[in-house]
Amino acid sequence: MINDIGGLLLAAPAVQTAPVIRSLLAGAGGYLPRRVLGNEELALSVDTSDAWIRERTGIRQRHIAGPDETACSMGAAAARSALAAAGVAPQGIDAVIVATSTPDQAFPATAVSIQHALGIPGGFGFDVSAACTGFIYALGVVDAFIRAGQIRRALVIGTEVYSRILDWQDRTTCVLFGDGAGAILLTAGEGSGTGADHGLLSTHLHSDGAHADILYVDGAVGRRDRPGTLRMNGREVFRHAVARMAEVVDEALAANNLTHADLDWLVPHQANLRIINAMGRRLQLPPERVIVTVDRHANTSAASIPLALAEGLADGRIRPGHLVLMEALGGGLTWGSALLRV
Ligand code: UT7
Repeated sequence: MINDIGGLLLAAPAVQTAPVIRSLLAGAGGYLPRRVLGNEELALSVDTSDAWIRERTGIRQRHIAGPDETACSMGAAAARSALAAAGVAPQGIDAVIVATSTPDQAFPATAVSIQHALGIPGGFGFDVSAACTGFIYALGVVDAFIRAGQIRRALVIGTEVYSRILDWQDRTTCVLFGDGAGAILLTAGEGSGTGADHGLLSTHLHSDGAHADILYVDGAVGRRDRPGTLRMNGREVFRHAVARMAEVVDEALAANNLTHADLDWLVPHQANLRIINAMGRRLQLPPERVIVTVDRHANTSAASIPLALAEGLADGRIRPGHLVLMEALGGGLTWGSALLRV
């Protein structure tokens, strides 16, 4: 570039635009326990019916962890499958971030146990606690590390065994949840270059403790008197879910100068088909552009989004170049979104 200043010709140094480092999706995987518990079977032990559960939630069945299956074992299996899909060896991983509300132990963190189980020799790992929004929070954390240049390859895992914190006599909650794990591998790479930006375009995280009493666990590992059971005012959570998630999808699109017409897929948290359909309608996405697993998995909390994402990628519905919007709301309350160009 030549600047002509007062008759003097100055050669300005060529402006080097630094490549935009983004978190790129390299692979995804999932794990579901072998044991499947259908609505009819559940109705034998608690006062409910297949018709009620299907009509109010869309759930037909859920997977339940066996005695040998834990947040660590399921998360490690999902992570192995994500690594295999990406063709990356465990040795190259810099960080393992696990979203879970049902860790094997208070500590070591489930992430560190998974790091060990996979034979990852270095890096670091820790758990993120944000209930059903946990995976979105974990994406936000990993994305910040990658954009800052601190790590290059991270496993982001959601893994839950809610069957162990349910009151199996409370029909208002026990019919809603299931166990499982999902994982993705994010790698640092150039976000642009092919025209459209690729990778994780944004994450938006929110929380508000004022509504802690509508969805919570009434105990903890640290309490001698009670390990804790999930409690929920479903109607109130439903109301907040529809309102907060509508806000957060608008926020994600506006922040990226996009509209709902740019979206290829909605991969929502899988709590209730009625909430999922409401979000799909709001984004004017036909049902075939929304990944739904709640019918087969029920609500697997932090595992639900990565499980749904892994399913959509594995069966070829979600393809490279597609724009995917993820959103969730959970206990806390916590809620958030992540926008990803595959
Ligand atoms: O992942 C975290 C976020 N969680 C959510 O987003 C969950 C949000 N909430 C929901 O999905 C729904 O509110 C539920 C599925 C939990 C409940 O559906 P609802 O349409 O809001 O039902 P409701 O709570 O208003 O209950 C309606 C009736 C009640 O009976 P009465 O009071 O009308 O006589 C309940 O006792 O249904 C009864 N009921 C059941 N009946 C049969 C509640 N649970 C059951 C059940 N089987 N399992």
